[in-house]
Amino acid sequence: MSNGLETVVAAETVLSDVDGAAGRLVIRGLPLGALAGRVTAEQVASLLWQDFFAGLPRDLERPIAAARVFAWCELEPHLASVSRLPLFDAMRALIARLPDGDGLADALNLVAAPAVLVPALLRQQRGMSPVAPDAASSQAADMLRMLDGRDADPGRTAALDAYLVTVSDHGLNASTFAARVVASTGAGLMSSAIAALGALKGPLHGGAPGPVLDMLDAIGSADEAEKWIAAELSAGHRLMGFGHRIYRVRDPRADALSAALVRLGKSGAVEGKRLALARAVEDAALDALRRHKPDRPQATNVEFYTALLLEAIGFPRDAFTPVFAAGRMAGWLAHAREQAMTGKLIRPRSLYVGPTPLAAA
Ligand code: ACO
Repeated sequence: MSNGLETVVAAETVLSDVDGAAGRLVIRGLPLGALAGRVTAEQVASLLWQDFFAGLPRDLERPIAAARVFAWCELEPHLASVSRLPLFDAMRALIARLPDGDGLADALNLVAAPAVLVPALLRQQRGMSPVAPDAASSQAADMLRMLDGRDADPGRTAALDAYLVTVSDHGLNASTFAARVVASTGAGLMSSAIAALGALKGPLHGGAPGPVLDMLDAIGSADEAEKWIAAELSAGHRLMGFGHRIYRVRDPRADALSAALVRLGKSGAVEGKRLALARAVEDAALDALRRHKPDRPQATNVEFYTALLLEAIGFPRDAFTPVFAAGRMAGWLAHAREQAMTGKLIRPRSLYVGPTPLAAA
């Protein structure tokens, strides 16, 4: 029995390779550094989907933009019905209203839907009318345009693209595994995506970046970091944005996002004081975690810089996990197709540790 399946290899994949000892992420043969900040979200989706969808066009920018328009027409009439739900739950509920199919058009709709829904739901929360998508925009530029109601500046668009690409795929993480389990039953893309969304929501997976900012707010100033962190660890709490199942060194996605933050900072969009506090908290946390568990190194993970980058781009903290889903959807769908194509049901066994029936029964 392997608790948490830590030692189990449960799938073969051509999609991504996570090297936890070297701190390296490869997506379809390319290191993360060759993708983040260099290609768009649409280009990484095209890379991930090669060989998994018949008739896949080389350039997905227009097809994804057309799917945003489709998702808007399908889902905008239902926005009010989810106005009382938290943002993530509202997004998940509305995505489930899209047509349920297994073709390229369905995959395009699923990738487009979070990009339309995050800004629309945020504007609804703020009492503002949602803005319709623009079929001539890129996914990242349109998300920001629909959020702000005006054209996004190139710096923020590039930062969001770098984020969406950085989180597009990452081995057999919990949400991707959930997607593959569901796909293995033959249930199709929609059910796989909804299962993955459910897994992503938890704070041990994609739900951590909001709490990262809560931690920075609670610490308040760099000189308080050491004391606050020590108190959290001695109370048995986990530090959000640190630790990883696979990485024993720094998560390479943290570096990619930190670099995107620095590039965005050059346009004045990143508050210097915020970044200085974050760097001081990161240093203090790494120090404290080294002393806390010397035999199990816990380094900075993707969520720490996700929080800072998405905040600087202009998303509120309850949108961080939904934006993560917008980036990861392309990876989930590629994995779902890859698993379905094996034709093999995922069905592990459990070890029964309950009471034995009485001999006479
Ligand atoms: N802060 C303090 N202690 C930690 C942390 C942390 N961030 N992470 C792990 N530990 C401790 C655990 O308490 C545990 O201690 P114990 O053996 O005394 O019980 C030990 O290290 C091992 O922890 P596990 O949960 O068994 O290790 P696992 O590899 O499963 O943990 C995880 C990975 C869940 C991400 C963990 O590091 C964590 O909870 N981090 C904080 C939440 C977070 O940042 N989540 C985002 C992850 S990135 C992503 O999924 C996109």
